[in-house]
Amino acid sequence: MLIAPIDTPRLQLRILLPEHAPLLQQYLLRNREYLAPWEPLRDSAFFSIEQCQERLLSNFKLMHAGLGMFFAICDTEDMVGMCNFSNIVRGAFQACHLGYSIAKTHQGQGFMSEAATAGIDYMFAHAGLHRIMANYVPENTRSAALLQRLGFEREGYAKSYLKINGVWRDHVLTALIHPQQ
Ligand SMILES: CC(C)(COP(=O)(O)OP(=O)(O)OC[C@H]1O[C@@H](n2cnc3c(N)ncnc32)[C@H](O)[C@@H]1OP(=O)(O)O)[C@@H](O)C(=O)NCCC(=O)NCCS
Repeated sequence: MLIAPIDTPRLQLRILLPEHAPLLQQYLLRNREYLAPWEPLRDSAFFSIEQCQERLLSNFKLMHAGLGMFFAICDTEDMVGMCNFSNIVRGAFQACHLGYSIAKTHQGQGFMSEAATAGIDYMFAHAGLHRIMANYVPENTRSAALLQRLGFEREGYAKSYLKINGVWRDHVLTALIHPQQ
């Protein structure tokens, strides 16, 4: 599924194709150490152009199948973040998971809030979702503050939920619910 870029006041949400792999690779390499505490362990192959291409192709197939939407957050030149809606489940659930990151250079300036708001608005308006779920490690205070700003509410606490930076970590579970659909 391909859609036109979504403009926000300072950014653009774009769908990247395999040919755009250098943009993704640069984002990942520039932010490698900064993102590491909050992500699964990555081996060096993860940052190769081949794996970036494969990931973008895989994302494209998932989007085509209606199973996710994967947005690159871009400024005029570079990819500066990502906002991913994955694991879309239909039927009685109509839900998905939200994952995100913003470049170290862009942190603390409201860019993530701006991009996530646009992504969420798109998903509620065009994907017909009822629930968007987002989960974070308790120590990730920036992620907690972002989700609160976006209107997500705490729903629970999952022990040993995801293997982050090599360790099974508890997560706070939150969700944003569309009241009318
Ligand atoms: C989690 C993460 C995305 C949060 O990003 P962020 O930049 O803190 O989030 P926001 O875009 O909401 O910015 C909020 C900050 O910008 C400020 N700000 C400035 N202008 C703003 C605006 N127009 N709107 C909102 N906030 C604004 C806020 O006051 C706040 O400042 P503070 O950091 O001093 O409290 C970021 O820290 C990150 O990418 N971390 C690494 C990856 C990660 O943890 N991912 C999530 C895993 S669960």
